[in-house]
Amino acid sequence: MSESLFDKYGGVETLTPLVREFYKRIMATPNLARYFINTDMEVLIRHQVQFIAVVMGKPAAFYEGMDMEEAHANSNISDRSFEDVIDVLEETLRDFEVEELDIIEIIEKAKSLKKEIVS
Ligand code: HEM
Repeated sequence: MSESLFDKYGGVETLTPLVREFYKRIMATPNLARYFINTDMEVLIRHQVQFIAVVMGKPAAFYEGMDMEEAHANSNISDRSFEDVIDVLEETLRDFEVEELDIIEIIEKAKSLKKEIVS
């Protein structure tokens, strides 16, 4: 089995700056920041790390079997907001010089989770 993209790009250590930047951009986008105003900081940071891990192919065990649908059921995430997150993700990956073919794979993985996240 080939290694995950998460490991290819150096795991938690190398990906921390990317996760930070992703988080900063989400919080600088009013349409997205509003989902997190009542979320405590720790959960929020965990969210960004897990988000990146999942879309970069880490197995489910990494985030302890968290059910995506359950985790988002109360947040009323719209189609538009989901697309906005995908755009921020794509821009961040590009700015961190993730390879183009890997970006395509990551975005496909993220989009494949849409049904579970949008309500
Ligand atoms: C592929 C996309 C996504 C993945 C892999 C993902 C992953 C997760 C995970 C693992 C949790 C549970 C966090 C925890 O309690 O430890 C969570 C919660 C949450 N997610 Fe996501 N997420 C995704 C997309 C989104 C989007 C698009 C939004 C909003 C625009 C969003 C907003 C939230 C919110 C508000 C919570 C609840 C935080 C709280 O408990 O207050 N997520 N997500």
